[in-house]
Amino acid sequence: MKPISLTGIKPTGKPHIGNYLGMYRPALDLMKTYQGIYFVADYHALTIMHDPETLRELVYEVAAGWLALGLDPDEAIFFRQSDVPEIPELTWVLSCFTSKGLLNRAHAYKAAVDENLSLGRDPDEGVNAGLFNYPVLMAADILLYGSDVVPVGLDQKQHIEITRDIAEAFNRTYGPVLKVPEGIIQENVMKVPGIDGQKMSKSYNNTIPIFAPEKEVRKQVMRIVTDSKRPEDPKDPHDSTLFTLLSFFASPERLEEIRQLYVHGGAAYGDLKKELANLILAHFADARQSFADLMNNRGYIDDVLAQGAQKARRMGQPYLAAVRKATGID
Ligand code: TRP
Repeated sequence: MKPISLTGIKPTGKPHIGNYLGMYRPALDLMKTYQGIYFVADYHALTIMHDPETLRELVYEVAAGWLALGLDPDEAIFFRQSDVPEIPELTWVLSCFTSKGLLNRAHAYKAAVDENLSLGRDPDEGVNAGLFNYPVLMAADILLYGSDVVPVGLDQKQHIEITRDIAEAFNRTYGPVLKVPEGIIQENVMKVPGIDGQKMSKSYNNTIPIFAPEKEVRKQVMRIVTDSKRPEDPKDPHDSTLFTLLSFFASPERLEEIRQLYVHGGAAYGDLKKELANLILAHFADARQSFADLMNNRGYIDDVLAQGAQKARRMGQPYLAAVRKATGID
């Protein structure tokens, strides 16, 4: 049996190329050496997403995105978080081994509190307990199957540390019941800039979507922020969002040519944007086709997720049984 790699993705936005480079691709690459577990974290999304239609739609889009980008549901275990009731059950048990102070220090909660304080509001205004307990649910996601590694972006590093703390606290009380996982932190690929040069993120509204209609993909690429230099002016490629994005999709030879155009003059932003849009559309051509097919066949997605949930439950149940036995809840 191969070691386990586990990845969850929250259905709070449409898949974009920052997700792909920072998350989907590295996670799928691990399939060669690990048994992959991938899931759509809809319970996590519920901490902020309270519109049922949107949530349902995004679960399909994220699931179709994984499949279209190459997740093989026969090889991987692929499911929707809310189809595995062992996860919330384990969440409760783990919450009894999580110091509240640890959660007070979690970045997402702390950021919400800091913002309230800076606006002179009650520290917990608008903060639901689900957001506060988010890291415990994530620990249950990971610990339920004895996961060995968890590939995540830098923004999730603290959540992995919290998971390890919780597992260790549990094990100190009952002996070595839970496997303490390792994070695989994707530091470099995290730095995929959005069209405005900040980190690409749906919260900044600066993404290039993978599966949107061609026109929309092109439009977003044309909106990449550039300076006012003319084509013949020399430019610094390291200070260019457009160049950085080209570097993910152009061949090494072409990228070197483009770099020369930047340095010596001759790089016209408009032309390079068109080139980037073409490269992105070509790179994802097959995935975009299969995404469209999948979204027209939601029954298939339902079946895949349901079968995946059965596998996940079978895999998690022995771990949960061990937890129940250790604690005396059995
Ligand atoms: N918190 C992760 C994010 O925001 C999503 C997630 C939920 C996750 N459960 C997980 C990631 C378990 C890795 C492992 O992106």
